[in-house]
Amino acid sequence: MYSIAKKVLFKLDPEVAHELSLDALGAAERLHLLQPFMSKTVQAPVELMGLQFPNAVGMAAGMDKNGDYYNALGKMGFGFVEVGTVTPKPQPGNPQPRLFRLVEQEAVINRMGFNNKGVAHLLANVKKRRYQGVLGINIGKNKITSEEKALGDYLYCLEAVYDYADYVAVNVSSPNTPGLRNLQFGEVFEALLHGIKEKQKQLAEKYGKHVPIAVKIAPDMSDDEVRGIADQLMKYQYEGIIATNTTISREGVENSRYSAEAGGLSGAPVRDKSTQTIKVLSDHLQGEIPIIGVGGIMNADDAVEKIEAGASLVQLYSGFIYGGPELVTEAANAIKALAASVSPKAT
Ligand SMILES: Cc1cc2nc3c(=O)[nH]c(=O)nc-3n(C[C@H](O)[C@H](O)[C@H](O)COP(=O)(O)O)c2cc1C
Repeated sequence: MYSIAKKVLFKLDPEVAHELSLDALGAAERLHLLQPFMSKTVQAPVELMGLQFPNAVGMAAGMDKNGDYYNALGKMGFGFVEVGTVTPKPQPGNPQPRLFRLVEQEAVINRMGFNNKGVAHLLANVKKRRYQGVLGINIGKNKITSEEKALGDYLYCLEAVYDYADYVAVNVSSPNTPGLRNLQFGEVFEALLHGIKEKQKQLAEKYGKHVPIAVKIAPDMSDDEVRGIADQLMKYQYEGIIATNTTISREGVENSRYSAEAGGLSGAPVRDKSTQTIKVLSDHLQGEIPIIGVGGIMNADDAVEKIEAGASLVQLYSGFIYGGPELVTEAANAIKALAASVSPKAT
């Protein structure tokens, strides 16, 4: 069914196709027309970060930046949905065009730049939640906020969403907000992790519940840098790590007409970088912090590869554009089969 829709959607400008398909999906959900997809949600529970995930395959951040569509996306077979990145204030993002499909390479380049309606809008949406699965909320900083004041933006968003998120993802890895990736290193990173952890403790007391926090990192780091990040996350006792965001590399897409477009590259070309990052993390963390693997999952084997590299859950974005809901089901079934082969009781 998706292959028919895809033929039409791929004739349109990528951002128009994005808006159109999400609007249609949202309308279908409100009219209760998504039942056929719902029945396909694979049941293969995973317990992680104190949460129960129906299956291991999630929708990655960026598809539903404002929480406008998660009730519908949640019915596409996903075990969890991450909305955002949301920033304290609304912001338009970069000028269009800012989203490019590299069809031959099964890839996407985007420089959206955190276009979003602000955390108040997202909050109004998540307060009306019908979706009963696991909901992650991914937070970031406004473009106009300086690096020195970035922590304030994260704390503002964390406080706003804390009571409504099953987990919060801290995005310090988008390549499209100038300076954002610098937050992953050195004293700035440590100050950020410390500040967010302190706020989490206060909020846990205030609301009488502990909401886990995962940090989302980039694929463009040396192994030593990845290990450095892992050390800090262990030091501050973070509950999860999401690896990875898009890459600034153009390896594998040199021949595309879009290869010179600025932005983050996702889909098949980021797969190996992301898997390599997960392997380094997994070797270093030794199970202390769970890994959510994302980047270039275009088929069921790619999903299994992420789990074998050390991820406990996976997410996808570009694969959903190219493969639709069928990919979600295939990936969840493949991970289920893998778990059963490792531990026969896990079926
Ligand atoms: C159009 C687009 C927008 C994205 N926006 C965000 C975002 O707002 N926040 C974020 O953490 N990641 C964002 N991402 C990154 C994805 O969540 C994911 O980490 C990355 O695309 C790699 O996965 P994939 O190869 O399955 O797409 C975006 C990706 C794309 C393609």
